[in-house]
Amino acid sequence: MRWLVTGGRGMFGTDLVLLLQERGEDVVAVGSAECDIRSLDAVRDTMRDFDVVVNAAAWTAVDDAESHEPEAFAINATGARNVALVAAETGARMVHISTDYVFDGTATEPYAPDHPQAPRSAYGRTKAAGEWAIRTTNPDALIVRTAWLYGEHGPNFVKTMQRLAGQHDTLNVVDDQIGQPTWTKDLAAYVVELVTSGKPGGYYHGTSDGTTTWCGFTREIFRLSGWDPERVKPCTTADFPRPAPRPALSVLRHDAGPAVRRWDAALAEYLVACDH
Ligand SMILES: NC(=O)c1ccc[n+]([C@@H]2O[C@H](COP(=O)([O-])OP(=O)(O)OC[C@H]3O[C@@H](n4cnc5c(N)ncnc54)[C@H](OP(=O)(O)O)[C@@H]3O)[C@@H](O)[C@H]2O)c1
Repeated sequence: MRWLVTGGRGMFGTDLVLLLQERGEDVVAVGSAECDIRSLDAVRDTMRDFDVVVNAAAWTAVDDAESHEPEAFAINATGARNVALVAAETGARMVHISTDYVFDGTATEPYAPDHPQAPRSAYGRTKAAGEWAIRTTNPDALIVRTAWLYGEHGPNFVKTMQRLAGQHDTLNVVDDQIGQPTWTKDLAAYVVELVTSGKPGGYYHGTSDGTTTWCGFTREIFRLSGWDPERVKPCTTADFPRPAPRPALSVLRHDAGPAVRRWDAALAEYLVACDH
C-alpha cells in the first residue's frame, strides 16, 4: 500500500512514518511547506496515487486557539475537509486524528465514540467542525480521537516534567483532570492496525488502557526515573488558570478499535527508549 502522511513531521506523524518505514511500506511524509492543507489545490496536487492518507496536520496550540480561532479553523476544519474531499475523489482511505476536546469533559463515565460532541474551547470547536466536515464529505474515513499524547519527536508533558524536575525540589501538578496518557508510537500502531484490518468508516478512540491524573502521571515519570514521587504535590485546575478550559474527564471508551496497552507500561518503555 502507498501511504501519505500530512503533518508528517509532527510528533505523531514522525512516529507513524517511522513505523511504516520499519514495516517496509511505501510512505511519503509532507509538512506544511510541501502541502498546506488549507489549500484544496495543494492537497489535490499532493494526493495523487495513494491508497491511504493519514491527516496528522493540525493547529495544536490549545490556548492560542482561543485568540486565533479562525486560523485554527482554517487548518482543523477546512484543511481536514480538503483532505477528506480529495481522498473521496481519488479513492484513498482517509484516517484523521482528532481529540477528546470535542467533548465537554464533564461526564462521569468514559466517552463512547458516538457520544454527542460538545466542545468548550476554540480548539475543540475547530476539531469538532473538522469531524463533521469529514463525516459529510467522506463517510468511509476513519476518525481516530486521541488524548494526552507524548512522543520523542515533539515537545510534550513528559519532557516538561523531566526538565522541571531538574529545576525544582517539589512540583505542584493538577490532580483533578483524569485521562489516558498515550505514546505516539502506540497510536501509530493503532492507526496501522485499524487500516490493515479494514475497519469501517466512523469514530474510533485511540488512547491507552487505564487512567490517571496529571499528578499521577508525573509521579510515575518520577518513580520510573529513580526520583522520589513524593516531590510531586497534587493541586487543582483552579490553581493553574489557562485561556482554554481543560476537560475534567478525558477518558475515551474503547469500543471498536484494536487494543492499546496500559499507559504505565508504555511510559516505562518510552523512558527506556529516550535513554538510548
Ligand atoms: N498532542 C496531543 O496531546 C494531542 C491530543 C489529542 C489529539 N491530538 C491530535 O493529534 C494530531 C497530531 O498531534 P501532534 O501532537 O503530533 O501535533 P504537532 O506535533 O503539532 O504536529 C502537527 C503538524 O501539523 C502540521 N501543520 C500545521 N499547519 C499545517 C497546514 N496548514 N498544512 C499542513 N500541515 C500543517 C505541522 O507541520 P509543519 O511543522 O510542517 O508546519 C505540524 O508538524 C493532531 O490532529 C492533534 O489535534 C494531539
